[in-house]
Amino acid sequence: MKDLIMKTFRFSGYLCVFCVFAVIEFLSGCGKNKAETERILVDGEAYKLILSQNDIQEHGAVSYQEDEYWLNIEPDKIEEISALIHETLHRCGGFFSDDGSALFKDPVNIRTFAPRVPYFISDRALIEHLVGKVSQQNLMASIVALSSFKNRYYTTSTGVSSQKYIFDRWTELSQANPEVEVRYFEHKKWKQPSVILTIPGKTFPEEKVILGGHADSIQMGLIFNKEKMEAPGADDNASGIAVLTEVIRILMEEHIVPDRTIEFMAYAAEEVGLKGSKEIAELYYQQNQNVVGVLQLDMTAYAGSPSIGVITDFTDPELTEFSRNLIDHYVKTPWVNDRCGYACSDHASWTRFKYPAVTIHETSARDNNKKIHSKLDTIQYIDQSGARVGLFGRLALAFALELGTY
Ligand code: BES
Ligand code: ZN
Repeated sequence: MKDLIMKTFRFSGYLCVFCVFAVIEFLSGCGKNKAETERILVDGEAYKLILSQNDIQEHGAVSYQEDEYWLNIEPDKIEEISALIHETLHRCGGFFSDDGSALFKDPVNIRTFAPRVPYFISDRALIEHLVGKVSQQNLMASIVALSSFKNRYYTTSTGVSSQKYIFDRWTELSQANPEVEVRYFEHKKWKQPSVILTIPGKTFPEEKVILGGHADSIQMGLIFNKEKMEAPGADDNASGIAVLTEVIRILMEEHIVPDRTIEFMAYAAEEVGLKGSKEIAELYYQQNQNVVGVLQLDMTAYAGSPSIGVITDFTDPELTEFSRNLIDHYVKTPWVNDRCGYACSDHASWTRFKYPAVTIHETSARDNNKKIHSKLDTIQYIDQSGARVGLFGRLALAFALELGTY
């Protein structure tokens, strides 16, 4: 893909004709599609250039592969951007729309744009009511329990037993709901499994809503005997698993039977390169599973700044806008847009396989918890009142119910 883009731009003489064609195709696509923004594909060089122009509003960038960026742009800025690329980078200012035209030749890209479901807030009293059941006490108790394992590293014995703890807890919570399944997802290359809980949907069971977080933890630095590693990982990311567990508790106690299938995932091996979630997303992709939205919960309990952070890179812009609306509606807390700048957590695995994924962080990026990846990532250094993680309990439950039920 990258080669293709580079080659394309290099042979600019021949290509200007092609680019003009692509732009025309793109513009004609705009007519058909009444969306407020259009999605265009550029490489890294053009991406940086576009971002450096203050008057060009970019609404969420997505990178699926190295040096490949999708930007949501207002249609009337297209010509301006085309001219900018042409004048500044001295190459044809063409880019490619997401209607299947132009450069979509590789198989991953052909599957790119799965049928989308509308993301809207239904504003149901039931959801407001259930969101009110989120317990800060339960959330804190889960964080205490998970962070008491010496470590949850992907190759250690406690990395396996901590996953058994989650498996057992989720099984216990779903006992009264026999249609609910809890299973291990085994990974061939290391011993820590992922854990998946499935609540089958009654109307569109093949449409899946996924809420996930990584269950593993790490202490950075040279540690030869990994068994002895001290990595409580209270914030990173017992706090995300606590949120999943509390949402499961409420759905189970209320015997919610969703319209779409809802899955909860405690991923293995995130801290060593998003390995666990990559294998799961890849398998779902190979099985052509229809995932309509993924929420990643990673670090939810540290109140470094009043606002929580809406991550706009390696995420889906539409699902991200939906999440902002969920926050305004059901969480009622300030948020700011933020970036990781790299594939910082498991949402990026889903994005990589073209599934719409989002993540929301506990603080704005510059106020992040500095104790993570050390033995000091304990409950002492998070918001012990449970208020911050409580916000994420509300958000995650609203996400599951708005996308999973009608
Ligand atoms: N929770 C972190 C990511 C993070 C850190 C988000 C600080 C926001 C602020 C995650 O568990 C992590 O550590 N990710 C790795 C990347 C991964 C590819 C190994 C990281 O950030 O180094
Ligand atoms: Zn981490």
